[in-house]
Amino acid sequence: MKALVLSGGTGTRLRPLSYSMPKQLIPVAGKPVLEHVLGNIRQLGVEEVGIVVGESGPAIADVIGDGGRLGLRVIYLEQDQPLGLAHCVRLARDFLGDEDFVMYLGDNVLPDGIRDVAADFRRRGPAAHVVLQKVADPRAFGVAELDTTGRVRRVVEKPQQPPSDLALIGVYFFTAAIHRAAAAVRPSARGELEITDAIQWLISHDFEVRASEYAGYWKDTGRIEDVLDCNRRLLGDLRREVAGEVDAASRLTGQVVICPGARVVRSRIDGPAIIGAGTLVEESHVGPGTAVGRDCVLRDTRLEDSVVLDGATIAGLPGLHGSFVGRSAVVTPRRGENSCHRLIVGDHTRLEIAG
Ligand code: DAU
Repeated sequence: MKALVLSGGTGTRLRPLSYSMPKQLIPVAGKPVLEHVLGNIRQLGVEEVGIVVGESGPAIADVIGDGGRLGLRVIYLEQDQPLGLAHCVRLARDFLGDEDFVMYLGDNVLPDGIRDVAADFRRRGPAAHVVLQKVADPRAFGVAELDTTGRVRRVVEKPQQPPSDLALIGVYFFTAAIHRAAAAVRPSARGELEITDAIQWLISHDFEVRASEYAGYWKDTGRIEDVLDCNRRLLGDLRREVAGEVDAASRLTGQVVICPGARVVRSRIDGPAIIGAGTLVEESHVGPGTAVGRDCVLRDTRLEDSVVLDGATIAGLPGLHGSFVGRSAVVTPRRGENSCHRLIVGDHTRLEIAG
């Protein structure tokens, strides 16, 4: 079996972060989303992976390389424009050959893995096997309708009137039958070649399409709130590890990871939390659900349930919560200026100021 990972697309819902970094590289619990994806693929025993990339291909290749570090052989498939998920299957035709493959959306996180689903697919041997989870608002997803035997009767992309509350989540198992289907579909109303339409083509042409309902945690990290939720969930799986320096006046509680070269000085860290390599935490209180990147400075600050990317500085802020701070950003209070704020805010940035 091979794997096809989709990491193109534009990431408009993750602005401003996606201006400077593809959404699949945004770190959750200290590791890019895409590495969590590739870890799950490796667990299936799959080694050959094609990653579909758009204009941020070089940034992705910089981090993932040839995949050797993760026990994989990775090749990159360039997609000029995000023309849809079935378009990705079309352009991977030569790479995939006639082998079965798992297609995995590079922004979907499933920390409990997909081994059980792969086993279902292998045991039953349908033409395609999709993964479903009940959601509160299915209109934002592909939606499936099942018959009483668990066979998929119909799938439809982002329907206004959903036929069920079972959303398609970002993992699909396919046989080579999908190639005929992907070749047959036409652009949808939003101008994309939808994988959902290709799956519907299989159903309409009497191929068997099966489904597993996924019981584990699943998140499409399409919005900052989803990234923070995911971060919180994945930090919960951390094991305590203190490689950096912690002075005698500091206190660590719970699952805390202090990476090599990090320093914790007169501070308190309540896990689950991770402090990246080379970061200084001084006179601060880091609360649960926080991942701080490499080479950051946190001084005289209280921060919880947040993600701070590499090289950021946060000083003198007593109550940051649910925040996402980008690379090399500087967040400090302004002293002696009649409490006026001074903001240099990038495009599509969101600031929520207490007051
Ligand atoms: O997250 C699950 C949902 O993912 C499913 O329920 C939907 O049926 C499916 O169409 C998909 O919907 P999204 O609107 O969330 O897809 P998105 O545009 O975010 O793309 C998913 C991933 O695929 C993302 O990592 C970007 C990548 N992609 C997307 C397109 C359209 C590509 O590599 N190339 C593309 O042309």
